[in-house]
Amino acid sequence: MSALPDLNGKVAVVTGGASGIGKGIAARLIAEGMRVIIADIEHDALEKAAAELGATAVLAGVSDAGSVAALAEVLAAELAAEGSKVGASVLCPGTVRTNIGASSRNRPAGLAGGGLTDVDVSGDDNPFFRWIGPEDAGAVVVRAIKRGDLYALTHPEWYAMVEPRHQAIAAAFRQAAEAS
Ligand SMILES: NC(=O)c1ccc[n+]([C@@H]2O[C@H](COP(=O)([O-])OP(=O)(O)OC[C@H]3O[C@@H](n4cnc5c(N)ncnc54)[C@H](O)[C@@H]3O)[C@@H](O)[C@H]2O)c1
Repeated sequence: MSALPDLNGKVAVVTGGASGIGKGIAARLIAEGMRVIIADIEHDALEKAAAELGATAVLAGVSDAGSVAALAEVLAAELAAEGSKVGASVLCPGTVRTNIGASSRNRPAGLAGGGLTDVDVSGDDNPFFRWIGPEDAGAVVVRAIKRGDLYALTHPEWYAMVEPRHQAIAAAFRQAAEAS
């Protein structure tokens, strides 16, 4: 992905920008001199956040985006292949102190039921969680955009959770190559 070292004067659209990680990202982008539009479905929180941050508010939802991480990975590869100056990064957040513990407040009525409930783990002081603030996550995003990183990771120490899966996939490729 192409690096974007100077964000000053550029425009950003942050979805889910009225709360939590989105709001933290918006705050950090504004601190970089960007003009930021925050989109969200929670009207009152959106207006409040826009006034607080100095952002432009747009009442809009993004619930039908499909698998956003996979979308960004494919988009980044296709843009790079085309030599585009537009990039895409995938934010992989660890534990960030937000309002996620009450996220069923925004669950579409059509998706009600199914046994999903909000679970508040914010009081869990297990050191593995290493809680960070929304603006810390925002700073990770700003760094990734500036450097042109595809993946923006807030908790690099969590690699231990994904390493066995990656090793198993690599081993399966080796076995398949030996068998063919
Ligand atoms: N907080 C964490 O530790 C953590 C960890 C991993 C992943 N995440 C993910 O990060 C994302 C942001 O969560 P958060 O922790 O900041 O929660 P949050 O509840 O504080 O903020 C989410 C914001 O998204 C808005 N929103 C919800 N549905 C929307 C829609 N369809 N269109 C537009 N906006 C919508 C909400 O109104 C809210 O303002 C979520 O996808 C969450 O699953 C969070």
